[in-house]
Amino acid sequence: MKIRKCVIPAAGLGTRLLPASKAVPKEMLPVVDTPVLELIVKEAVDSGIEEILIITGRDKSAIENHFDNNIELEDHLLKKNDHINLDKIDKIVNMARIFYTRQNKPLGLGHAILCAKEFIGNEPFAILLGDDIMRAKKPVTKQLIDCFNTYNAPVLGVQEVDESDINKYGIIDYEKIEEDTFFVNDMIEKPKLENAPSNKAILGRYVLTPEIFDILENQKPGVGGEIQLTDAIRNLLDIQKVYAYQFEGKRYDTGSKIGYLKAIVEFALVREDLSEEFEQYLKALLK
Ligand code: UTP
Repeated sequence: MKIRKCVIPAAGLGTRLLPASKAVPKEMLPVVDTPVLELIVKEAVDSGIEEILIITGRDKSAIENHFDNNIELEDHLLKKNDHINLDKIDKIVNMARIFYTRQNKPLGLGHAILCAKEFIGNEPFAILLGDDIMRAKKPVTKQLIDCFNTYNAPVLGVQEVDESDINKYGIIDYEKIEEDTFFVNDMIEKPKLENAPSNKAILGRYVLTPEIFDILENQKPGVGGEIQLTDAIRNLLDIQKVYAYQFEGKRYDTGSKIGYLKAIVEFALVREDLSEEFEQYLKALLK
């Protein structure tokens, strides 16, 4: 079945980026001049997704405004004959069919995904975390969708992480099936290094099937008192095969200070209009 829909959870409190994330959703912080969330929506669209549900929450109205028309601004640009900026706005507004629903309380990623139950209905779907951005030759979500199309079962996007980072992620226990594809035996959310079954971490992209919703409905809070998606996928292992795909590409956790900084620097360094001057500046700075 074709993957047509995706969910982008963006209702978290973003406490790691306070005070910046107090009034501005962290998903709207700019990477050079493009909000994190716009980069994620673009990845979804480039992966063939047709309908996007963004899970929002309190104080997140900037998200809906960004993907909507702004008549006053557009009139102003039109009067000035600024077609470059008008085109930019037009592209954003017409990027995709975007829908919104609110997670009343940020009870965890698993709870945020459960808010998508009605929207998804009875078809497989992708999840793109609202603060994880990727730089890849082939869109990461497309890589996972291709894997889903081969195995017709849920696929988790994974990459190897440093030992010091293992306690930040969901970690899988696996069997290798083919280059970059693994059968998931088990998984554990934020393990201590000594309890970690591997160094392969689930990093911000998933393709799941609707069975996950029944499990999420009964899922008890886990690590941090939050309803964890990893715990629900672990329960899914009892009834379904689940695969992991080690995707090509570099991932940036823009919800952390260091991840956000790395994203800005690296995205600026590949921008035609900025790279030369910025590179010179960095070199001089580091001398
Ligand atoms: P994070 O764990 O990175 O988000 O969730 P957070 O809770 O906002 O982070 P900190 O620790 O307080 O800084 C990954 C994604 O899931 C969303 C977040 O918005 C983020 O895009 N999320 C998380 C929700 O939508 N709802 C939640 O209850 C939790």
